[in-house]
Amino acid sequence: MIDVILGLQWGDEGKGKIVDFFAPNYDVIARFQGGPNAGHTLYVNDKKVVLHQIPSGIFHQNCVNLIGNGVVLDPVTLKRECDTVASFGIDVRKNLFISEKTNVIVPTHRALDKASELQKGDSKIGSTLKGIGPAYMDKTGRNAIRVGDLLSKNFTTQYIKLRLKHQKLLDNFHFIEDISAWEEEFFEAVEFLKTLNIVSGEYFINNKLAEGKKVLAEGAQGSMLDIDFGTFPFVTSSNTISAGVCTGLGVSPQKINDVIGVTKAYCTRVGGGPFPTELHDEVGEALRKQGNEFGATTGRPRRCGWIDLVALKYTCMLNGITKVVMTKADVLDSFKELNVCTGYEINGKITQEIPFEINRTIITPEYKLFNGWNTDTTAIKNATNLPNEMSVYINFINQFIGAPIKYVSNGPAREQIISL
Ligand code: GDP
Ligand code: IMO
Ligand code: MG
Repeated sequence: MIDVILGLQWGDEGKGKIVDFFAPNYDVIARFQGGPNAGHTLYVNDKKVVLHQIPSGIFHQNCVNLIGNGVVLDPVTLKRECDTVASFGIDVRKNLFISEKTNVIVPTHRALDKASELQKGDSKIGSTLKGIGPAYMDKTGRNAIRVGDLLSKNFTTQYIKLRLKHQKLLDNFHFIEDISAWEEEFFEAVEFLKTLNIVSGEYFINNKLAEGKKVLAEGAQGSMLDIDFGTFPFVTSSNTISAGVCTGLGVSPQKINDVIGVTKAYCTRVGGGPFPTELHDEVGEALRKQGNEFGATTGRPRRCGWIDLVALKYTCMLNGITKVVMTKADVLDSFKELNVCTGYEINGKITQEIPFEINRTIITPEYKLFNGWNTDTTAIKNATNLPNEMSVYINFINQFIGAPIKYVSNGPAREQIISL
């Protein structure tokens, strides 16, 4: 069976830490979508590591890791990540596998991402500029180069054809950038990639399942950034919700068992787009400071606000969430009062549904106020020692979203997690 761990908000919920924590229970950890726009932070022997494309099970010797066909893969970032992982004594040739159907990000994808954002001006998405949108466009436009193509003698011809197509688009954008240095790095990284384990991802994973192995699918981004159901167009270009697991790995829906959703105890977003509970005051600033809310991939300050239960209930519904992990609860340790958004007021009416016009609608969040716990929770190991105010906060959220919070994470380290 396959379990899934994915983000329920706008990304950076702490998926990397949670996957790393659960990894010892699994034989295979697989990424099914996204690419180097993701930044998943883990602590290995007290050292911070940020993974972008390699699944977060890589530091566990008993797991194998698969980059699935639904991912868009940048060989340059991958090579750098492999070097980092190797510095911890991990042999990626032993426990990393890449689907031959994974789409490849080429240097002109990154240039196109930049050109497109520049053209959008004030309404830019706030993309990580890693080439994600253009790479997925080439996938659905049926022009992409896939990892398996790198092994073919036609690869260079295919690459030149794609580059020419991109050049025409860049000319239309009047965008000029010298990509020769990127290209040099790209071809070097392609040679490296060719030495890794390239497999048929769908047979790989289905064979593992047939052998009775346990698989964990690791989501990137968050459900509110899903291409279909997120705050479009301020979204990423893949299906980040649980449905993406089937197409992103080549497994059938019947194989999916637990869908574990990760949410922060508050909320953040990086990049543009609507964020109804965003705080532009000193409370938002305090959340950013306490939570060290700066992007793991781009270093940008994250926008911060209260937890949004309208959005959370929506993403629990979309994903079929069976268990929730609440992360960064410790970040709220010193807040006297906490707000929880229970509805959106739009034109004088309260709704508990995400409106289609979310980008063009003025939303006033309806809040329920809770007392903070004003206790350092970072050393707590057992649910019975949680402050009462935290239990009240958690129970209310449980009831509202209709999915059980089973774990609370109370610090960035692997062992800082409490089972409820
Ligand atoms: P991901 O993209 O969902 O994997 O999350 P990121 O790694 O981008 O961002 C989460 C950040 O919060 C990282 O810096 C983590 O080290 C940190 N983190 C994860 N869980 C906790 C927690 O429970 N408490 C605190 N204080 N930090 C956490
Ligand atoms: P992880 O996996 C937070 C955001 C970008 C931008 C929008 C589109 O670490 O949670 P893209 O680069 O995909 O064109 O950007 O999505 N975004 C993320 N925000 N965490 C991420 O990944 C993100 N990946 C993309 O900031 O608003
Ligand atoms: Mg992240």
